[in-house]
Amino acid sequence: MTDESSFIYRFEPGTRPGAPPLLLLHGTGGDENDLLQLGAMISPGSAMLSPRGRVLEHGMPRFFRRLAEGVFDEQDVRKRALELGAFVEDARRRHSIAAPVAVGFSNGANIAAALLLMKPDALAGAVLLRAMVPLSDPPKARLDGKPVLILSGQADPIVPASNAARLSAMLADAGAKVTLRTLPTGHQLTQADVSLARDWITSVD
Ligand code: MLT
Repeated sequence: MTDESSFIYRFEPGTRPGAPPLLLLHGTGGDENDLLQLGAMISPGSAMLSPRGRVLEHGMPRFFRRLAEGVFDEQDVRKRALELGAFVEDARRRHSIAAPVAVGFSNGANIAAALLLMKPDALAGAVLLRAMVPLSDPPKARLDGKPVLILSGQADPIVPASNAARLSAMLADAGAKVTLRTLPTGHQLTQADVSLARDWITSVD
């Protein structure tokens, strides 16, 4: 049996009333500490919930298994997305926070997209940094106007621009209010990601 509550995680309480809680989801090889600084820059004073991915790939934490770079074990994606959803639900009760806006980078953005498709109620919205389509045949989700920002890199060697566009269409078809921006960069984050994410989160706040 899987214990979906047993994520290692950091929680930082919010200090600004009304600021949306953030669910921070790191990239491959990261951990629960990685995105706290980014979260504070994107939405100062937000509560931050930051779990460590439970799958290890050569010792590197991730949020789901993959068969090769960009080739996902979709059965595992589904299972792990539901586990993450159960963790969020449990942590919301424990820390008395509202449904969070996910801020995910790379593998963390991909599990955030899967969570939106598998369990839409878990999230209030999402900032997906260098995300790709996580499931080829996702369940019919109803995202009912949930705001989603996708920031992709024009020269990203891992995520082709067409894949980010497909993800954007998939989420929009499910009813999300998607903003897709392609930046003149690769897979790594830049200052432009921070500014765009900050402005976007303020606009949907
Ligand atoms: C993934 O496996 O989620 C993507 O290939 C991104 C990565 O982690 O490199």
